[in-house]
Amino acid sequence: MSLPRILNEVNMKSQIETLSAKIETFEIKNNQDLESFRIEFLGTKGHVKELYAALKDIPNQDKKEIGQLINSFRNLAEEKFNKFKENLESVSISNDNFDCSRPGEINEVGSHHPISLVRKEIVDIFSRIGFSVSDGPEIEDDWHNFTALNFPPEHPARDMQDTFFVRKGENEMALRTHTSSVQVRVMESSEPPIRTISPGRVYRNEAISARAHCFFHQIEGLYIDKGVTFGDLKQTLLYFAKEMFGEQTQIRLRPSYFPFTEPSAEVDVSCSICSAKGCNVCKHSGWLEILGCGMVDPNVLEAAGIDSSEFTGFAFGMGVERITQLKYKVNDLRLYSENDIRFLRQFRASW
Ligand code: DAH
Repeated sequence: MSLPRILNEVNMKSQIETLSAKIETFEIKNNQDLESFRIEFLGTKGHVKELYAALKDIPNQDKKEIGQLINSFRNLAEEKFNKFKENLESVSISNDNFDCSRPGEINEVGSHHPISLVRKEIVDIFSRIGFSVSDGPEIEDDWHNFTALNFPPEHPARDMQDTFFVRKGENEMALRTHTSSVQVRVMESSEPPIRTISPGRVYRNEAISARAHCFFHQIEGLYIDKGVTFGDLKQTLLYFAKEMFGEQTQIRLRPSYFPFTEPSAEVDVSCSICSAKGCNVCKHSGWLEILGCGMVDPNVLEAAGIDSSEFTGFAFGMGVERITQLKYKVNDLRLYSENDIRFLRQFRASW
């Protein structure tokens, strides 16, 4: 449709008004409508071009005003065109042109870290028999990491655990070498009966290899009440071993030494990998060491303000990496902290 001859600026203004109204009412339902709209308003012979061409006949004093009106008119046409173009493009994906055979976009599903999985499982097992979970700081003072746990100053037992020291203001602090420090904190801040486990990260100055790392994870257990016996300790650990490694699992206790327990023992479980027949993992012994334990030394109870003539208790501590190694057959400690997606992916379905 071509414009009637434009005679003057009054005529021009009313033309722009009429055409603007036409833009508003122009119905665009599909790509064909869109193309007709483009040709009529924005094409080489469209209204926008025509109006700009007619501008040269407008008297000079009105050129500026009319020019601006034409600019707005062009913007109006372009905006409508772009808006409908976008709409039609998105509609065409969801409707007729949709290609059902196109490969989907894969969203990688994350997984929990094996250490988290096993920590959760251990916490669940002990919660079922009434143990709460407690927490303590990783940067610890000498009292909680050593002295209150019956490590005398200069005692060689402090060398059992190669400690990282850090300076905090005036004080020399340690990165805790074990979660036994949390035992002391719990005993200091609560009254027996106490039944708690304390999962957490610990640090030791060790060269990193397949079998040792400078940080790893432990879970400490503590039970203090009137009349707690070594028999209670054995029964609790047997329950844990069966829940963790299966009903057929057996345990054995070997005498050992820890400054904070008396008597002390190391606990082995029957090898779940070879059903105790003998394999590489259990070094053909049929047994695997999983934790240290004992009756809380009366000195430790007293240091934390608990009357050792009234209360007794047991404690145990286990390495989460060790339990994870047995459960998932992970034979290199370094895998836990390398963030290798091929390793981590294997635990996707395990929570
Ligand atoms: N703290 C010990 C370690 O890191 C483990 C341990 C042994 C904890 C005996 C205990 C225990 O509570 O009774 O090697």
